[in-house]
Amino acid sequence: MNSKKLIEARAYEQEKIKEVDETLRPEFHAAVPVGWMNDPNGFSVFNKECHLFYQYHPYTTEWGPMHWGHFKTTDFVKWERMPIALAPDEIFDSAGCFSGSALEYKGEHILVYTGVIEEKDETGKKRVQQVQCIASGDGKEYKKWNCNPIITANSLPEGVYGQDFRDPKIWKHEDIFYLVVASRSEDESGQIVLYKSKDLREWKFIKILARSNNQYGKMWECPDFFVLQDKYILITSPQEMMARGMEFHNGNNVIYMSGVFDYKTCEFTQEYIRSIDYGLDFYAPQTMESQDGRRIMIAWMQSWDVNINPGHLKWNGMMTFPRELELQGTELIQKPVKEIEKYYSDSVEFHNHVLSGTTQLEGISGRALDIQIEIIEGQYQKFEMQLAHNDIYTTKCSYIPKDGTFTFDRTYSGLNRDVSCIRTMRIPERSESITIRILLDKYSAEIFINGGRQVMSNVFYTPLEAQDILFDVNGELVANIVKHKISVSECVPV
Ligand code: FRU
Repeated sequence: MNSKKLIEARAYEQEKIKEVDETLRPEFHAAVPVGWMNDPNGFSVFNKECHLFYQYHPYTTEWGPMHWGHFKTTDFVKWERMPIALAPDEIFDSAGCFSGSALEYKGEHILVYTGVIEEKDETGKKRVQQVQCIASGDGKEYKKWNCNPIITANSLPEGVYGQDFRDPKIWKHEDIFYLVVASRSEDESGQIVLYKSKDLREWKFIKILARSNNQYGKMWECPDFFVLQDKYILITSPQEMMARGMEFHNGNNVIYMSGVFDYKTCEFTQEYIRSIDYGLDFYAPQTMESQDGRRIMIAWMQSWDVNINPGHLKWNGMMTFPRELELQGTELIQKPVKEIEKYYSDSVEFHNHVLSGTTQLEGISGRALDIQIEIIEGQYQKFEMQLAHNDIYTTKCSYIPKDGTFTFDRTYSGLNRDVSCIRTMRIPERSESITIRILLDKYSAEIFINGGRQVMSNVFYTPLEAQDILFDVNGELVANIVKHKISVSECVPV
């Protein structure tokens, strides 16, 4: 039997969604049906389909008691809305079903997540406990197990408290289940702890896998740990980080550590730490292995620090487009999954095209497209593209070869509350030749430089009548340009 909270949330969503103008939704990005969305959760394969859950507050466009929303897809492009999977309806998760992960086991879809409990102590002060919980289901309906919570803070080493203990990522290696969870160490900065289980019910604390030591922000959130080629990758999202050069910015960041992991000792030796995405809107990524063995990552395409939702939409939040990960040396390479190509239409190509001054190119305009500009050679100080452009609005992406910098600027994208609207990243090559690929989808631009070596994800809520794309070159250059329109029919509500 589903709980009253879950039934009410599903009914509310079904009613509220009627008020949403479906034409104002992103074309190929998973966006929340109504209300608020944050982190991706439970990104996994079950019954040969890919499932994506997410942190969901259907009732307002702001964060509130967390439910798990649910999509599924067979190609990462078309997202089918599924009934809400979890509501905060038990003692162990009454203040929220926070982030977690999923896997397929013995024909069941297993979900692990953080249950949040809020209590008042003797003095009336609020006390928060975060515990790890389990549920399972058939891909549509999920049931929380009666052994919950499966992991409490009592299992943590001395001095580590239970108010920040969240976001379990589960996987299976040989016959053993493993979990990484984020917590805070005695110095109050983040750390990732590792657990093991034989049966999903009894979990044993193994060790602290990695820690911030106050070097990489405070609390670490949403860990993910997986093998990629011959290395292990630990991803986490630190809060309250301090800007460092162009690598890290103030506030919430997402970092990855590559290194070596030994299952016998459970020792992770980190070799390298870097940012994953240099844009304004990228947080809490999660990965999964696709049926054909690709490591695919998706993230919340927004940030806690700057929430720029325009207010007139009845929904607030979307995910990045899924990206295939690859490791080249220590560098994490990200590419949009190839399935996007199935949805190409109205393609145009310009070969060895000379660009100079300000131009528009025949057939290159619109708000849902995949465009690649390969600058072959040139003598120029700056190359700039203006997206979602009209007389009032514009969103700029510019490259300065001499400085090796690429900048995204949404100052004129149309939101007067958007105070942090520019971000610059470093392109180490500093070369006149560069390849810039942009996935543009109504309210977002994901920019992949030189085949995914640097990536920037950004949202901007410019009204859809701004459709032009302009090229500005301070100097002259020769480029190959390929553009494909992307058209996906509406996803069908359940
Ligand atoms: C990260 C996060 C997680 C938590 C969830 C709550 O964005 O703060 O740590 O589980 O969001 O919605």
